[in-house]
Amino acid sequence: MSRLFSPITLGKLPLENRIVIAPMCQYSADHGKATAWHRIHLGNLALSGAGLLIIEATAVEAAGRITPEDLGLWNDTTEQALGDVLKDVRKYSAMPLGIQLAHAGRKASTEAPWHGGGFLQPEEGGWQPSAPSAIPFNDTDRHPLALTKERIEEIKQAFIDSAIRADRLGIDLIEIHAAHGYLLHEFLSPLSNLRDDEYGGSLENRQRLTLDIFREVRRVFPAHKPVGVRISATDWVAGGWDLEQSVALSKTLAEAGCAYIHVSSGGLSPQQKISVGPGYQVPFAAEIKKAVTIPVIAVGLITEPEQAEAILTEQQADLVALARGMLYNPRWPWHAAANLGATVHAPEQYWRSEPSAVKGLFTPKKG
Ligand SMILES: Cc1cc2nc3c(=O)[nH]c(=O)nc-3n(C[C@H](O)[C@H](O)[C@H](O)COP(=O)(O)O)c2cc1C
Repeated sequence: MSRLFSPITLGKLPLENRIVIAPMCQYSADHGKATAWHRIHLGNLALSGAGLLIIEATAVEAAGRITPEDLGLWNDTTEQALGDVLKDVRKYSAMPLGIQLAHAGRKASTEAPWHGGGFLQPEEGGWQPSAPSAIPFNDTDRHPLALTKERIEEIKQAFIDSAIRADRLGIDLIEIHAAHGYLLHEFLSPLSNLRDDEYGGSLENRQRLTLDIFREVRRVFPAHKPVGVRISATDWVAGGWDLEQSVALSKTLAEAGCAYIHVSSGGLSPQQKISVGPGYQVPFAAEIKKAVTIPVIAVGLITEPEQAEAILTEQQADLVALARGMLYNPRWPWHAAANLGATVHAPEQYWRSEPSAVKGLFTPKKG
């Protein structure tokens, strides 16, 4: 029996297997509205047989977008556009759908990576980014505005409103983005948070905004639907956010009803020294898993079915997430099931592709 293809529940949400499609920004929205690209992209991934698809970082307010083309869920128009896409996706796939709710903080107002990723000035369609403190990512970057308490309250409310919209769209799970140097991570890290109010200084204060937002989202999202958090386990910079603090935050989140911790790393500082290699973030997931009883998702250069299986059987994580590997091979879960002697859901339209050597690989979609 493959562990990768064994079921698991996140909160009360049952997943058929432990393969998660990691959130991936597409920079393809129109003023926050999902487009035909999202219909194609999400539709494709929803046929992959993964246990869970997490929709890309989705801005809770327009100023929280990384680029002007980020997906959003901040008003009726953006809700309607995503709803239209998801209606089509749902018609052909019963895969549970999550959404990552995000605010870009000081990394907002840039151009899409394939245009260079540079900062956009207001006259180029950009806007003034905000952060816990007026410290830019690079010394030479434009300085973000330090958030006032009023703006912090508005951002909390924006997360609440987006969570309510996500529920209305029938989305099964919310992931709060507290990783990769975006707003919540900026509050967590002592490198980017120099505040002297209740949101800065001690670990308790730096994690306050993440916890407040988690609790508020948890409160308004139906109890049977899970809310999880993605963190960067370390800044990879001495004196920054680190594994010890991540373990402490994970424990506090678990006590507050967090359904899972999704363990990534980095993205906060240009000084980061990352040793990248297969499964390079798995050891962080393993340490966090030792400290909490809620499921832990490992991510980062997990590309081989046997590698994924080993991460789970060695108890380093409870689920694995793939990002680039799913773009490169959107039927990765089919091939993994074939390799590991498991079965996977596939749409009837594609059943004739089942290789004779693995007869019985495909099972009909449920529901
Ligand atoms: C195209 C692309 C877009 C991404 N967008 C997001 C995002 O929206 N939110 C997020 O937390 N991580 C994002 N990431 C990071 C991935 O979710 C993942 O953590 C990272 O790529 C490492 O996993 P991998 O080695 O399987 O690609 C993105 C990665 C890629 C390649």
